[in-house]
Amino acid sequence: MARCFVTRRLPGSALDRLSEAHEVDIWLDRLPPSPSALRERAREVEGLLTLLTDRIDGELLDACPSLRAIANYAVGVDNIDLEATAARGIPVGNTPEVLTEATADLTFALILAAARRLPEAAAAVRAGEWLTWDPSWLLGHEVHGATLGIVGMGRIGRAVARRARGFDMRVLHTGRGGDGVPLDELLEHADIVSLHAPLNDSTRGMIDAAALRRMKPTAILVNTARGGLVDQAALREALETGAIAAAALDVTDPEPLPPDDPLMQAPNLLILPHIGSATHTARERMADLAVENLLAALDGQPMPHRASP
Ligand code: DGY
Repeated sequence: MARCFVTRRLPGSALDRLSEAHEVDIWLDRLPPSPSALRERAREVEGLLTLLTDRIDGELLDACPSLRAIANYAVGVDNIDLEATAARGIPVGNTPEVLTEATADLTFALILAAARRLPEAAAAVRAGEWLTWDPSWLLGHEVHGATLGIVGMGRIGRAVARRARGFDMRVLHTGRGGDGVPLDELLEHADIVSLHAPLNDSTRGMIDAAALRRMKPTAILVNTARGGLVDQAALREALETGAIAAAALDVTDPEPLPPDDPLMQAPNLLILPHIGSATHTARERMADLAVENLLAALDGQPMPHRASP
């Protein structure tokens, strides 16, 4: 029986299975443990089940000499220093596949919401501004038949592309396969640019002022991947000057975005609180995979979903 620390309660029954096999300590607060609380609670454990809100770096790992496995409750692992875990021989697991369709659904919700100005329209109804059916009121952009630029054609990017077919969209994408186009070309031609790349040293800030300048003034930027992909000061300026038409973000940097962050003041901007995978099914399956990963590694087996090399 190994000692494990789980940094939050999770939906479903997966943690019961972990507790049947191991001694499990669960952080019960709604807010994440502070770095010092995490260090303290993880100090003597062999297994760690983390969330994307937990920063796992060399300093934390040095404070946890017994640690043998980390299961991250997310497909993205940018909260974990993978070089530091690899240097210590600690495998890191993630939760691919099970959140792909939920995240692609939310991407389309954002595309439609931004293109058809849904938050503004709903707010106008509540504010009593719906005076009559007005031919010129709340006009948006067509999604049907538009050109969708997918940056990062991994699992989620492909799931978004499948949905785009139903809207008769023309899809451009970067990366993978011979049919990808360079980012600059995609930015110049897309009516909607949707980000699905992982966050790492080569993608951080990839949507900067120069990238935003390449986009059409009628274009919409959608981000359901990681906030760090976008230079938020540049995005604010692009929205304020009308360099692009709108943006819809499920992710920001930092998260949560403080209410007084200057980005909050930008026009034509919809921000959601990182809910791409927030369906009952996806979040329960993520817990299943994270626990499968931890059980396997603590049993000396390879993790079924390993993020680290
Ligand atoms: C992930 O798994 O990386 C997502 O961002 C969480 O929904």
